[in-house]
Amino acid sequence: MKLYKKEGNVLHILSFPNENAEKGDYLLVEDQDAGKALIAQVIDVQFACIPGVLEELLRTLPDGGEPIQGEDIDPLEIAPHITYIQDASLLICKIRATLENGLLSPSSSWLPSRSQSTIKKLSIPMLMKLANVNGKLPITLGSTKDASLLTIDASAVDGTLNIITGKKGCGKSHLSKLLMVSLVGYKATVVVFDLNGEYTSLGLTADGKRNIHYDKIHTLTPAQNFKVALEQLHLNVVMGILTHALHLPGTSAREFRRIWKHLKEKGCLTLHELGEAIRNLNCNQHVRDALLSRYHALVNSGFFTDNPAEATLLDECLLKANEQGGAIIINLRNTSTIDRQIVVEYILGKLVDALQSWRLKAVFLFAEEAHLYLRETYWDDIVTRMRHFGIFTTFITNQPDTIRENIYRQADNIFLFNFTNEHDLDVVSRASRIDAETIRSIARDLPPHHCLALGKVVGDFPIVARIRPLDLKTMGETRLFFKNIN
Ligand SMILES: Nc1ncnc2c1ncn2[C@@H]1O[C@H](COP(=O)(O)OP(=O)(O)OP(=O)(O)O)[C@@H](O)[C@H]1O
Ligand SMILES: [Mg+2]
Repeated sequence: MKLYKKEGNVLHILSFPNENAEKGDYLLVEDQDAGKALIAQVIDVQFACIPGVLEELLRTLPDGGEPIQGEDIDPLEIAPHITYIQDASLLICKIRATLENGLLSPSSSWLPSRSQSTIKKLSIPMLMKLANVNGKLPITLGSTKDASLLTIDASAVDGTLNIITGKKGCGKSHLSKLLMVSLVGYKATVVVFDLNGEYTSLGLTADGKRNIHYDKIHTLTPAQNFKVALEQLHLNVVMGILTHALHLPGTSAREFRRIWKHLKEKGCLTLHELGEAIRNLNCNQHVRDALLSRYHALVNSGFFTDNPAEATLLDECLLKANEQGGAIIINLRNTSTIDRQIVVEYILGKLVDALQSWRLKAVFLFAEEAHLYLRETYWDDIVTRMRHFGIFTTFITNQPDTIRENIYRQADNIFLFNFTNEHDLDVVSRASRIDAETIRSIARDLPPHHCLALGKVVGDFPIVARIRPLDLKTMGETRLFFKNIN
């Protein structure tokens, strides 16, 4: 390989057919005299534009379908050299860092010697070693193209905001399950908003036997084994549900607050009493109707109960998870939109409460398609306020435009699967940790189950890896009609 051009932080490198470098590979451009080296990543591979190549190609074309008759005379035997040159490629590379005395710096301001520099491939394990990515809590994500393992450190997803995105069926939920069970293995507390009910069997192996996670995976299905007693609820959580999930107007909210406090003082805070109190409320008809309709929504959700014994599971699970690690899967599969919002509002309120009082150390929250249940104001909350309380969120979506731009900009890690749609690529390329060309060029060519990892987990060196399979009952398959008809 030979250095050809440098423009800003883009390097153009000539590569010959036997040196097969591909998109995503890392190269080390070493200038011995300067004692420094550039670390660059190939983001595109093109044919080298060499004068005369077009004529040469035209000459070898068959004439009107018929090969040109006659004998090739090549006394100097240059034909193999010409083919070699015709197949030469130009690697467009982005400079990621400078390596000097074993230390990395992000600078790309110096110019290596064009004649003296040597260029060789840099293996991913070597790169990860230079970037100091290995730590005490390894999580093996999968393998890279050169058959080495990509191992990240669990501390790189601690205290961070992560996004897993890519088009449908390419393995996003699979990766989030991998991250999730690895975190649980390190005794972390994980909460999953599981929209499709696909995380519920992670305690089982693919053939249905119990695995090491079995005792740590707790599935809570709202209105079935997951209910809340009114007297355990904090007023601000109820008010959050009423105003945000059920859109109760301000005046009615004030009335509700009064009723609630009154019932609480009397010690008879039950669904029945609450209903009676609203019905007998001496106030404007509209206010009463507004309150009654919300009351019925609460009752119909089946999520609230008067029996405190029915409503202890979440607390028990949180306690257990905090002690020995565990995942609490909130199964939202058969829950209606309104009920989903009620449940999510409750859980987030509850988590903030538990974190504030230090009953919980920190929580890793995995949210699939969060736009379907997360209210507007929570997005900002999650990246700022909740992060300080200790809620570290991973958003998983196949519609990247449902996540706001500011969330991309603040994301610490992005796991990007294949996208071909220009619009989707546009949205993702707004992430600040990486340049848009890299995302566009690499994400477009990713095969299924391959992901481009960006951010802190890979020391800001974008790396493509094939995510490893899991021996877990992952249940992510799309249900098909024509499955067995082949
Ligand atoms: N790295 C992998 N190795 C083996 N199987 C995988 C891998 N990634 C995904 N799969 C399988 O491919 C299927 C689809 O994966 P998954 O459910 O994770 O996709 P998805 O991106 O979440 O799809 P959707 O957009 O529909 O939610 C699943 O059956 C899953 O088990
Ligand atoms: Mg999925």
